[in-house]
Amino acid sequence: MISLQNIFLKDILAEINISIRDGDYIGIAGPNGSGKSSLARIIKGIQDPTAGTVCVDGITRPYGRVSADTGLVLANPENQLVSSSIEEDVAFGLENMNLPSDEIAKRTEDALKWGGLGDLKDLPAHHLSAGQQQMLVLAGIMAMQPKYLIIDEAASMLDPDGKALVLEAVRRMNEEAGVAIVHISHDLDELMRARTIYIMDRGRIVWEGAYSKLHHHESLFSDIGMELPSLLKLKSLMVNGGYHIDDNAVTEEEMAEEIVKLVNILEESKNASLKTLGAVKE
Ligand SMILES: Nc1ncnc2c1ncn2[C@@H]1O[C@H](COP(=O)(O)OP(=O)(O)OP(=O)(O)O)[C@@H](O)[C@H]1O
Ligand SMILES: [Mg+2]
Repeated sequence: MISLQNIFLKDILAEINISIRDGDYIGIAGPNGSGKSSLARIIKGIQDPTAGTVCVDGITRPYGRVSADTGLVLANPENQLVSSSIEEDVAFGLENMNLPSDEIAKRTEDALKWGGLGDLKDLPAHHLSAGQQQMLVLAGIMAMQPKYLIIDEAASMLDPDGKALVLEAVRRMNEEAGVAIVHISHDLDELMRARTIYIMDRGRIVWEGAYSKLHHHESLFSDIGMELPSLLKLKSLMVNGGYHIDDNAVTEEEMAEEIVKLVNILEESKNASLKTLGAVKE
């Protein structure tokens, strides 16, 4: 577990308290300049806070210590690829870990297969689409068997196919490989899977809670210049209009189910009133 305790960074971050448990999935959202990337750098250990403690499994991490078991993926894959060849790019990180060569070969092959890049391994990396390049970055991290993964707007520059590819890979990393995820995005839609969402504004956490509760706080989001995901806006409109919607419904499927239930209730009450009318006529 990584826990940030009362973290400050100059005038950029203040009073940040966040715990990332083993296998966890947390989401961090907030407007531009709210401090999300600064926080990512502190979690990874490439930036030291000016005050506060970062604890790893209960032990204070000394300042200046970069977390080797934390992967960090940024928005632009081109800036994160270190080699022109796909295979070499994955092997590069492993070579720096001083692993035996047969272990490097095995992990590289497995990671490329995991990322759906096995058949492309001999191609230069610039032949890949942006989404595939981001998959290559993720495969390189996966090969290093990390405990934590921070994705900082990692899908924000991608087309819808690339975005879906990357978000699905992150889901698999969490659910199948047990990697704890810190998912940073200005786009709340992306954060549906997170156990807890932290909303940042001007360097502080201004709200934390479950994705399914976001629609109760619409005014907070408009105050800080953020929009609720469309489905949650609809949920808010319906709840405010007096319709009962299960608080936990967040996906398209779950919301559709709730709407079908409402339609059935309306149909039943229509039938009941028709019957009453019929009874009066008789
Ligand atoms: N190295 C730095 N030195 C001084 N100020 C910085 C530095 N990096 C970021 N800042 C400032 O800190 C604040 C937070 O920036 P940060 O990049 O962490 O925000 P963000 O939430 O990631 O923004 P975005 O949504 O644009 O990615 C901003 O006001 C920014 O100008
Ligand atoms: Mg940022």
